[in-house]
Amino acid sequence: MKNIILEFRKKYEAKEPISVITCYDYTFARLFAKTDVHSILVGDSMGNVIQGHGSTIPVTLEDIIYHTKAVCKGAPEKTVIADMPFLSYQTSIEEGIRSAGKIMKETTADCVKLEGDSNLVIELTHRLTEMGVPVFAHLGLTPQSVHTLGGHRVQGKTEESRKRMIEKSKELADAGAFGIVLELIPESLGKEITEAISIPTIGIGAGRYTSGQVLVMQDLLGLNEEFNPKFLKKFANLAKDVNIAVQQYHEEVTKRTYPGESNVFS
Ligand code: KIV
Repeated sequence: MKNIILEFRKKYEAKEPISVITCYDYTFARLFAKTDVHSILVGDSMGNVIQGHGSTIPVTLEDIIYHTKAVCKGAPEKTVIADMPFLSYQTSIEEGIRSAGKIMKETTADCVKLEGDSNLVIELTHRLTEMGVPVFAHLGLTPQSVHTLGGHRVQGKTEESRKRMIEKSKELADAGAFGIVLELIPESLGKEITEAISIPTIGIGAGRYTSGQVLVMQDLLGLNEEFNPKFLKKFANLAKDVNIAVQQYHEEVTKRTYPGESNVFS
């Protein structure tokens, strides 16, 4: 039986980098299941890449559950991290427990991910872990707080914010988080946090020294030609492939060369 805590722990102790990719649907989950990628995150980044909003704020608990179910069906052998969306846990510990419980009861996700370093998030991490729900933390650029952070900008650049992030990483690890996503921070801070705590750090724009990396699938597959941040490497150019395929389909339909003889029933 898969166990995300043990899986991440084993790799962390062996100093093996951990690969995580986001996914939101059955078809891509099936494709990712055929690769060696370690884990799948059903991120609230679906607000941007699936729903077309400018942020993750509109994503609901129902959205996360719907997409997590589809991903779990497509990749039953992979460990799956389900994001807790905005306002599904920020109002109270009770609401956070209820929301995490709903995800765990209605999907086969292996854990939940919470953004931020507030006292409530730290206490909720402790309570959920105690109840048997594994928790992944998320520090640095936390997109649910994009409005107070002043946009998508690198975090932890001042001495004070660096110190705070290191301190809060330790508090989250002490509260029971079994891993932390570090998003958009200087490489030196990613390294310092990774060395300061004894749980895996998974970076996105956090440099080369974290315990692993996570990328949004549309970004790494090159599906969005307009999105080109410095941290991103596009491992494919599917936007171009899709454009060529759909254009060719259109031309063949309009020239009546598709369907051809081999595509028809007698
Ligand atoms: O929602 C998401 O996809 C995330 C990753 C960017 C880490 O939180």
